[in-house]
Amino acid sequence: MRLLVTGGAGFMGSAFVRQAVARGYKVCVVDLLTYAGDTCRLEEVKERIAFYRTDIRDREGLEEVFRRERPQVLVHFAAESHVDRSILEPRAFLQTNVEGTLNLLELARRYPLQRIINVSTDEVYGELGEEGRFTEDSPLRPNSPYAVSKAAQDMLGRAYFRTYGLPVITVRPCNNYGPWQYPEKFIPVIIVRALRDEPVPLYGNGQNVREWLYVADCAEALLEVLEKGKEGETYNISSGIEKRNIEVARAVLDLLGKPHSLIKFVKDRPGHDFRYALDSRKIKKELGWKARTSFEEGLKQTVEWYQKNLEWVERKLRDLRKYWEKVYQGDP
Ligand code: NAD
Ligand code: DAU
Repeated sequence: MRLLVTGGAGFMGSAFVRQAVARGYKVCVVDLLTYAGDTCRLEEVKERIAFYRTDIRDREGLEEVFRRERPQVLVHFAAESHVDRSILEPRAFLQTNVEGTLNLLELARRYPLQRIINVSTDEVYGELGEEGRFTEDSPLRPNSPYAVSKAAQDMLGRAYFRTYGLPVITVRPCNNYGPWQYPEKFIPVIIVRALRDEPVPLYGNGQNVREWLYVADCAEALLEVLEKGKEGETYNISSGIEKRNIEVARAVLDLLGKPHSLIKFVKDRPGHDFRYALDSRKIKKELGWKARTSFEEGLKQTVEWYQKNLEWVERKLRDLRKYWEKVYQGDP
């Protein structure tokens, strides 16, 4: 089966591509290679995939890929994905996540596909207090420009299923972590900075809660959805592993043998959602998937990966430093 994977050179997309190739799928990747994209993540499968450096905002460019590759399935990961950047510069988020998705769905009306997996996020539901979990039927109340752009992407998929009968399946994963994550996201920020004995920035009081899923487990869930999911349905994808940010920071520092005194509380993220937690009974019951990796094991694998891949991090550091200056405003 021929898959077209957008954002396949990103953190989650590449984990999916590596597994899909191992399962025997023929994969074609479309990725613009923004600051977040990197073909190094696809090194081990590069001989077995087709790669197009194409912008999903570019309709003609995308159509050329559809014409040449005639994909049977679309798995749509490409996005501007970082909440803090969406707060600094929202426009690119609307352009890529909404208009880019629209371009793909429009093409899917003319180049029939058997399945379209639209990768949304748990952030579309908004925030929770200390209790409760979002089900697939919870209302969408997105709070950041990123989350709003993802909610629009998510709802476009719904509309194209309902209105044009496209075979769209929506997935809403919780926070992923693991090897190859760009060090703007929380867990690699902690690792990369602590390895250099630099302060580890915690927003606000560090009590916010996220649900953490190892990226390889998420890729597996997506393959289950692709193979067994039902058109028009939405599936939450999560692990049940909830942690306060301060707990995550301490756990990483402990693994690295670094002191907790590296933690520095900084100005809170504007509009910072307090807690995300998903009810993922539907995917367990209907598709038989559940997360396999414990937080301890996943974090150990992740920390070891960064320790072994310092050169990759080093290459990202120049751009990162400029970005960190902007986002932490010189603190720490
Ligand atoms: P990422 O930032 O690591 O990767 C995004 C990829 O998309 C990059 O390779 C980038 O080059 C590419 N891209 C960006 N703009 C593009 C454009 N205009 N045209 C073509 N390619 C473009 O993101 P990620 O963490 O791998 O997330 C992948 C998807 O999963 C996103 O849709 C994100 O919203 C969603 N998601 C992420 C998480 C998470 O914890 N990381 C959780 C839930 C959902
Ligand atoms: O929940 C799914 C979402 O998870 C995805 O849709 C997004 O693409 C992904 O970026 C992620 O968003 P978050 O905002 O939850 O992830 P981030 O890694 O940016 O932050 C995780 C938590 O850590 C959050 O409460 C903010 C906090 N944080 C983050 C950074 C970067 C800090 O305290 N300090 C930091 O330096």
